[in-house]
Amino acid sequence: MSTSQTTTIDITKATTSKINDVDFDNLSFGSVFTDHLLECDFKNGAWQQPVIKPYQPFLLDPSAKVFHYGQAIFEGMKAYKDDNNDLWLFRPDENYKRFNASAVRMAMPEVPEEVFMNGLNELLKIDEAWVKKGLGNTMYIRPFMIATGDGVVANPSSEYKFMIILSPAKAYYSGEVKVLIAEHYSRAANGGIGAAKAAGNYAAQFYPTTLANKEGFQQVIWTDDATHTKLEEAGTMNVFFRINDTLLTAPVSERILDGITRKSLIELAKKEGINVEVRPVLVSELVEASNNGTLKEIFGAGTAAVVNPIVGYSYKDKYYELPKIENSYAEQLKSKLTKMQHKLEADPFGWTVKI
Ligand code: COI
Repeated sequence: MSTSQTTTIDITKATTSKINDVDFDNLSFGSVFTDHLLECDFKNGAWQQPVIKPYQPFLLDPSAKVFHYGQAIFEGMKAYKDDNNDLWLFRPDENYKRFNASAVRMAMPEVPEEVFMNGLNELLKIDEAWVKKGLGNTMYIRPFMIATGDGVVANPSSEYKFMIILSPAKAYYSGEVKVLIAEHYSRAANGGIGAAKAAGNYAAQFYPTTLANKEGFQQVIWTDDATHTKLEEAGTMNVFFRINDTLLTAPVSERILDGITRKSLIELAKKEGINVEVRPVLVSELVEASNNGTLKEIFGAGTAAVVNPIVGYSYKDKYYELPKIENSYAEQLKSKLTKMQHKLEADPFGWTVKI
């Protein structure tokens, strides 16, 4: 291993790379990681020096609070390589802000901007060969923080580990996505942690989503916990509905994640001249639109999933298939967004940031 040091980050480079073992044309989402990771520990009330080192496992005491109380948060971001081999991030400031908002909600220390942003930039530069050019190729970035302090007393940890790992990625979903509308289980409630990117939010969805999987549905569309009448989000994605030519999506709330792809699509759609309404969307409205033929599209939006069409949904044991349409908003918006992210089209919003 060769070791060097910058003013702020200790860097130890791997002596060999795993890159030649990777089949970049057949990536299964989130299963391959690059040669290096960023790590920064919080102890004695302060963030320590960040380190970039070869990707490797680490040891924790079995009593570490993350194992017992789930004090853990994460983010999902992507980097893109343009035709000139330059690397770009998409609205990284939004991920940074949301990460620290999640930290506050989970009684964890906020990560300094320099650790998050410089750490990410340096890590991406070191592993830049892993970011492939071309639409559809991305580097999925997973910053996360866990409570590493020992002891099973149920209170916030005094020690934490912040890390960034990188995973080359193509599409999150392969194949058709059908969804089940939640009638009993809930993802979040007012006053809870639904708006935070807390690990437990995702774990809590696994059981109902597994039940849905057994019935042939890939995802659950969560409804409001109090009445199960309002359509909220799909867990791995925010969700949009096209009735006639109006695009509808729920407003963010304490129960719904403030998705960066979601808010970008709202602005992009408006710029494209699409009529967008951000308001509570009722399940009854969706069923009525299916029955009278005005429901044209449903699609999910998220960093990992990008823009993913939904081909049908089930509600009260009845399956409603979406029509096959031309001029789909999902296709139009996905094409605009990904071309902007890969610098194949102008970015009038200033969302793309060069590394
Ligand atoms: C993302 O889209 O980045 C997410 O965090 C969703 C995750 C389940 C892959």
